[in-house]
Amino acid sequence: MLGAAHSQPPVLVILDVDTGVDDALALALGVRSERVDLVAVTTVAGNVGVAQATANTLTVLDWLGATGVPVHRGASHPLVRAHEDASFVHGTDGLGNADLPRSSRDVAADRGPAAMVRLLRERPGEIALVAVGPLTNVAIALNVEPRIAEWAAQLVVMGGAYREPGNVTPRAEYNLYADPEAAAQVFAAPWRRLVAVGLDVSHRTPLSRRAWEAARDRPDPAAQLVHRVCARTFTERALDGFYLHDPLALAVALDPTLVTLEPATVAVGLEGDARGETRITGPGDGLVATGVDAPRFLGAFAGALGLPEAG
Ligand code: RIB
Ligand code: CA
Repeated sequence: MLGAAHSQPPVLVILDVDTGVDDALALALGVRSERVDLVAVTTVAGNVGVAQATANTLTVLDWLGATGVPVHRGASHPLVRAHEDASFVHGTDGLGNADLPRSSRDVAADRGPAAMVRLLRERPGEIALVAVGPLTNVAIALNVEPRIAEWAAQLVVMGGAYREPGNVTPRAEYNLYADPEAAAQVFAAPWRRLVAVGLDVSHRTPLSRRAWEAARDRPDPAAQLVHRVCARTFTERALDGFYLHDPLALAVALDPTLVTLEPATVAVGLEGDARGETRITGPGDGLVATGVDAPRFLGAFAGALGLPEAG
């Protein structure tokens, strides 16, 4: 169970994704968890191009029966850099080449950053913004309406590697490497509450091979989604685990007691080998996750998605 007892009202969430495999699992957690009211999903170029990420997001939401959740297409490339995808991890289709039935649903009218500004303005202090892709959309929204830093109840970012090696370069995690200028602008803004969930904790929360194999026999569409989109990881790539980066970030928005949080000021590197690097430069108003109750998170994730286990 994520967070307090059933009595607590659900957490309103805008989820910004670059759907990808772990983004798909975060969408599943958002749809299945009774603690989440998924207000909207916004898409951004990252793991795959924004058109593919948007199509994947619609496909996953339809697969889960969440056809009422609006999807707003967002930025098609980083603020300054060329788009660099992560298809070697997520497959050329971004969903582990799982070949799920494509959605026929259209995206919602306004684009990702505009939807963020509109929704946060309509319900100031009520909605958590959870960003699990490059921070391009958040930076654009912040640029045109700086007050979203105050209107968002919190911003939770899946990104960074604070005292952990990176996963794109030795010093940088992918989401911040992909658009470091956006990340620098976002981390410098005066958010009501900013929580950074980086590789320091997400590398401790892998979906195990055993859990992936067990998902095959579970009838819940969410469990079937896990088995299908993670299949490439455990077969073609022959890995023994798949890091649940994005579901962990969403879970922390629901229950911050899952992690140990260190007050910090974070500097984002822009140039050369420091591109995308995240350095803690001292205490500050931001919060960086430095430890995680992995068994409790993995148990809650498994429970929400109808899996017998996740770890
Ligand atoms: O570094 C991990 C992050 O980059 C995850 O959000 C994954 O989906 C990719 O976007
Ligand atoms: Ca992602």
